[in-house]
Amino acid sequence: MAFEIPDAIKTWSQFGHPILMWVLLGISVYALYLGVQNSKIRSADKETRKELIKKNFGQRHHRIGSILLAFMILGSIGGMAVTYINNGKLFVGPHLLAGLGMTGVIAVSASLVPYMQKGNSLARNTHVSLNILLLGLFGWQAISGMQIVQKIIDRMTS
Ligand code: HEM
Ligand code: HEM
Repeated sequence: MAFEIPDAIKTWSQFGHPILMWVLLGISVYALYLGVQNSKIRSADKETRKELIKKNFGQRHHRIGSILLAFMILGSIGGMAVTYINNGKLFVGPHLLAGLGMTGVIAVSASLVPYMQKGNSLARNTHVSLNILLLGLFGWQAISGMQIVQKIIDRMTS
């Protein structure tokens, strides 16, 4: 006998991905804040430098960045899985393509870390540029994602 996922689980699972992604959007903005605070260390005067170093912005940024990396990749795979379970196919549209693009971008951005830690400024500038692109795409995903949520709700209520 083939295993069938109950309809209620299929339907409600569609809200897991949007909720997770809104949380990750908040975490991304926090990661940006921590990264920018950390970058101020280089140009600060002696006293401010001491204060900034004490607050451990670099390590806190790295930790939150790792969480973001893991959940963005899982969330993206989850979005595709749930879409497939509910529709029997994926929709090759802007949300899917930008989502896969973001997943690639965050992987490359994180892979630059060992080079940044060696003081390579090309790696650091690439990390920052890629993540600004990531945040821009995230804004777009939030809009196109909420349009999909609206469609799902319309389908549930019709
Ligand atoms: C929204 C995503 C992210 C944003 C906006 C962001 C932004 C930044 C910024 C602005 C800096 C400071 C660069 C400088 O010193 O000039 C930085 C540094 C850094 N980032 Fe990210 N980042 C993000 C994600 C990540 C991820 C996913 C990782 C790794 C898992 C990561 C690891 C690091 C590390 C290790 C540094 C160097 C910290 C140090 O100097 O001690 N970041 N990032
Ligand atoms: C707040 C932001 C977001 C919202 C509200 C949102 C919402 C949605 C919704 C409602 C779906 C359809 C799920 C279903 O039918 O069960 C979906 C699919 C998907 N989402 Fe998102 N999403 C957001 C951000 C993201 C991000 C950041 C990524 C990638 C990093 C992403 C990647 C995907 C992918 C790959 C799919 C499958 C699309 C398809 O195959 O048609 N989403 N999203």
